[in-house]
Amino acid sequence: MNLLEVKNVEKYYGQGELIVKVLNDVSFSMNKNEFIAIMGPSGSGKTTLLNLISTIDTVSSGNIYINGMDITNEGEEKLSEFRADNLGFIFQDYNLLDILTVRENIELALSIKGEKSEESIEELAKFLGIENILYKYPNQISGGEKQRCAFARAFINEPSLILADEPTGSLDSRSSKTILESMEKLKSRGATILMVTHDAFVSAWCDRVLFLKDGIIWKDLYRYELTHREFYNKIIETMSVLGGDINDL
Ligand SMILES: Nc1ncnc2c1ncn2[C@@H]1O[C@H](COP(=O)(O)OP(=O)(O)O)[C@@H](O)[C@H]1O
Ligand SMILES: [Mg+2]
Repeated sequence: MNLLEVKNVEKYYGQGELIVKVLNDVSFSMNKNEFIAIMGPSGSGKTTLLNLISTIDTVSSGNIYINGMDITNEGEEKLSEFRADNLGFIFQDYNLLDILTVRENIELALSIKGEKSEESIEELAKFLGIENILYKYPNQISGGEKQRCAFARAFINEPSLILADEPTGSLDSRSSKTILESMEKLKSRGATILMVTHDAFVSAWCDRVLFLKDGIIWKDLYRYELTHREFYNKIIETMSVLGGDINDL
């Protein structure tokens, strides 16, 4: 069984003459422990697709299965429980609470489910190299450290799927590298990540890149045995064929 299966999904906004088709018959599936990057020009539907899979938004037609459950056919009560049990979220601007320490921010995610122990915070923080900032507040740490804290928060309950919208979008290239290292570490622990990114350098660390254009999957590129550098070159090449403003990808 696929971890995620997106089947013939369409999304329209507006109605009547003002109707806009944002996603047009999008289908793909994703395995457990796979890392997928979604790329495409601004307005191509990347965030919309992520929001549908997040259960934040609803499809106009089609189905989305996560662990075999069709999330397009469930009510809000079931979905909020489902999100807490199965999904982790990472945002471009970290979404940490400023009045809480790093540790408390991670702990907040824990308390929702309540299966993991306090020690698991320490252990995960060590694993991600942020154990020395656990008692600092978000305004006392760097952007890269904030995002690693957000990764810890997203992973602490070991969700089936982590969804990330531009996780390195606010970081310089050096901090982005530490995020890639954190991603690799979480991968070794079985994480599955679907992320939207503009950054070919980040995509090159994924197993696969889905290119969206005008609401369709224009290309589904696999890394296979390529090195990060070889895959990076292939992604850049694909972006130039995709066209549009590359800087706007
Ligand atoms: N809530 C909404 N209402 C109307 N149009 C929307 C809404 N959200 C997104 N859109 C439109 O859908 C298209 C895709 O948006 P989005 O998924 O945010 O693209 P991307 O993340 O690839 O830049 C854009 O043309 C955008 O204007
Ligand atoms: Mg977007």
